[in-house]
Amino acid sequence: MDKILVIHGPNLNLLGKRQPEVYGTADLEAINKQLRRLASERGFKIDILQSNHEGEIVDRIGQASLQYDGLLINPAAYTHTSVAIRDAIEAAALPTVEVHLSNIYAREAFRQHSLIAPVCQGQVSGFGPASYRFGLEALLTVISSSGSRLSSIHNSVRKRSIRSHDRRGK
Ligand code: DQA
Repeated sequence: MDKILVIHGPNLNLLGKRQPEVYGTADLEAINKQLRRLASERGFKIDILQSNHEGEIVDRIGQASLQYDGLLINPAAYTHTSVAIRDAIEAAALPTVEVHLSNIYAREAFRQHSLIAPVCQGQVSGFGPASYRFGLEALLTVISSSGSRLSSIHNSVRKRSIRSHDRRGK
């Protein structure tokens, strides 16, 4: 079964209480529930991490490439500052979709640039909690249309070991 990793960046644990006029009143658990439901309806497994620590996010992305088929990430404030998260996503080479609750292009100038977007398949910004739903739909579509990345890695490893087994048997 294909597996998705969802990462919520700093301060997203405060959703529901934090600037509801900007980020809405849904809390993170409500968003996660919606993501878990959608993933299971579509036959995907999902793991979810919220972290306020750049290094923890970098470590988790670094371990993700052999464990997951895709990454959905709201890097939050790190969107605008983190070369380390951008490099980790680029190195993981997983289909990745960036999401934002608010429309970052309609906000302060410092939020209008994403260091992360160029290493993602695409970005969804400005639809509140629905950004996550649209982002997950987009990610699942990308993964389904390209075939499971993990299964193709596993298949090629399996084919190689069958070939070397055949050679040994001759
Ligand atoms: C955010 C936008 C960021 O600029 C901000 O720092 C966040 C949340 C969003 O989802 O709209 O924490 O990523």
